Amino acid sequence: MKEQILSDLKNKCQNCMKCELGKTRNNIVFSDGNPKTAKAILIGEAPGENEDKTGTPFVGRAGKLLNEFLEKAEISRAEDLYIINTVKCRPPQNRVPSDAEKAACESYLLKQIETINPEVIIFCGATALKSFYDKKVAISKIRGEVLELEIGGQIRKCIPIFHPSYLLRYHSLEEGSPRDLMLKDLKKIKNLIK
Ligand code: URA
Repeated sequence: MKEQILSDLKNKCQNCMKCELGKTRNNIVFSDGNPKTAKAILIGEAPGENEDKTGTPFVGRAGKLLNEFLEKAEISRAEDLYIINTVKCRPPQNRVPSDAEKAACESYLLKQIETINPEVIIFCGATALKSFYDKKVAISKIRGEVLELEIGGQIRKCIPIFHPSYLLRYHSLEEGSPRDLMLKDLKKIKNLIK
């Protein structure tokens, strides 16, 4: 049932021309992970060059770093997560997707959330956070907090975390460093979904 709904939705996205991104994409980037076993949805920003080439989210440098952190937190990318982005098509030059592009994609995102019905939604980075949380707050101030937000007519537990692209710039593992906080946040998520 879930598979059928998601496969119909994927077909729809493959033909989508609701915004300008449809003209320049090579592939839509629909999702990664196992819809049957996923307990959390991770929402990133937008596909980059590698994702546009392969059709899979988080496969470039940022994705590899995300994988390392997931492994350290003992979260299985393949079984525990369903990974999507705020938009399904790559914005040219990897710019941040516009409000109009996010709005054009929103119904697909909400259908995926409703179909997976996860225990937790992870906002990976400021773009995902801003798409669902209207208060102006820096990701560094709110990361790791469990927010209860109404998404698709249901109150859902949501946790913002740093985006791995941001962590590529900070290498320290010191207490309180961005990488240390990322691991702590993912371990908290692991506890919520186990
Ligand atoms: N960054 C994102 O936010 N999403 C991807 O899929 C890849 C890089």
